[in-house]
Parts: sequence; structure tokens; C-alpha cells
Amino acid sequence: MALSGYKKDGRELRIFENVDELSCNFAEYIAELSEVSIKERGVFAIALSGGSLVKLMGKLCEAPYNKTVDWAKWYIFWVDERVVAKSHADSNYKLVKDGFLSKVPIVHGHVHSINDSVTAEQAAEDYEFVIRQLVKTRVVSVSEINDCPKFDLILLGMGPDGHIASLFPNRPAFNEKEQWVTFITDSPKAPPERITFTLPVINSAANVAVVATGASKAEAAHVAIDGAGADYPVLPAMMVRPINGELVWFLDIAAASKIEVANFSE
Ligand code: 6PG
Repeated sequence: MALSGYKKDGRELRIFENVDELSCNFAEYIAELSEVSIKERGVFAIALSGGSLVKLMGKLCEAPYNKTVDWAKWYIFWVDERVVAKSHADSNYKLVKDGFLSKVPIVHGHVHSINDSVTAEQAAEDYEFVIRQLVKTRVVSVSEINDCPKFDLILLGMGPDGHIASLFPNRPAFNEKEQWVTFITDSPKAPPERITFTLPVINSAANVAVVATGASKAEAAHVAIDGAGADYPVLPAMMVRPINGELVWFLDIAAASKIEVANFSE
């Protein structure tokens, strides 16, 4: 059970005593959004990041969700991907395939992974093209405010340095405003070559969840949620603020230990 459901400035904070409780609530959250989206639009377009997030989605592959979720209506995208072969241990596609896609009946043609046989720059361009085609057919909705795609749900992990997706502090990709998908060849987290959704796309989603567990994330979570002090660099995680969507942070106690929850209302 969540310790508290705090709210502030359109952000919701869900803090859990342990990772198991977090993953139960996380699965329920995703399943509910899938139901709402399928009812409203007939499809559910979800974009996933890599890292520990994928394991935290594990309960979706179990009862009741494995039977109750309308998997045939799901469309899968990657918020960011490492530019390596799909069979490589570093591939986010492989991570999601092994930990999730192989366990639920998602239609093969609905899984939109990157082209892994070209440069990072080309892979980003190709992926944006794929998304543009799916926006035209409304598999992915479009933002009412800008021309960005409006994913039904974007799932983000967060690094101890406050990065989300492959948007790292002090890297130009973080400030990219024109492209939907950009690339990076000097990622501080290995491997160096990656493609990533840009902030305008992340902030155009209908729903965004940031998931962070463990004490190593506590400082970044505090800065991202409570706001940076004057001597603190701007972190990508603090720039996650959907313009016309809902943001939920899922944290365990360790990751939430430095957050000033007094600033939030229950
Ligand atoms: C990646 C990511 C990245 C990840 C965070 C958190 O592919 O590297 O998408 O943004 O989600 O680094 O990873 P952890 O949850 O494993 O710490």
C-alpha cells in the first residue's frame, strides 16, 4: 500500500514501503490506463525506458492482468534505446522482450523497436519517421497544443545523476526542442550511443510515470521534486512536467528519503 498519495502542482507522489508493493501498484496503474485508453481510442500506445523499470512491470504478466488486459490493442515503443544489436545484452529491446513481451500476447507488428543496423543519428531519424506514420493513422494520438505525438503512457526510470530516458545533464540532447527523437554518442552511462525521445515529446504525453528505487536515487529525487537550490544544476528529471497530462512519481522509501513531503498535500 502506498504510504501516501501526495499531490502538488499536478504531480502525484506514490511512496511505497518496499519494491514489491510498488510493483503491485505500478501494474494496477498501467492496467487502468490501458483500459481507459482502449475505451477512449481503441488502442494503447505505451513507451518504455530501460533499466530496473522493466522488472518492476513484472506483475502485469501475472494474474489477473495477464488475462484482463486487452493486449491485442497495445502498441509498444521505446522512450530510449541503446544503439546496439537487438540480441546484445545492453539492448533495451532485448530487456523488454525477455522480461515482458515474451510473457504476454502483444501483437508482433505492434512492437516498434529501432533500426539497429545504422548509426545512432540515422536510427533516431528512422524512429521519428516511424512515429510520424503512426501519428498520421492515430495509433499514436497528437497533442492539442503542439504537433508532438501524445503517447497514452510514457514510463521513465531515473539515474542517480537525475537523467531520464537518454537525456543526461550537460548533454545537448537535453535541450533539443525541434526533433521528436534525437541521438547521443557520448552517454555518461554505458553504452555511449543511444537514441532518445526529446523533452517536448515526453511532456506531450497523456500520462508520464517516473519510477525510482534505492538510496542512490534519493538526492536526485529530492532535487527533481522539491526544486533545485541555486547552486544545483538543472536535472532532466525536474523538467518532466506534462503540459496537458498527468505525472506520477513511484518511489520506494529509500528513494523518497530526502523529499520534503510537507510541501505536498494528501
Ligand atoms: C537506459 C534508460 C535510463 C534508465 C535509468 C534508470 O536505457 O539506460 O532508459 O534512462 O531508465 O538510467 O535505470 P535504473 O532504474 O536501472 O537505475
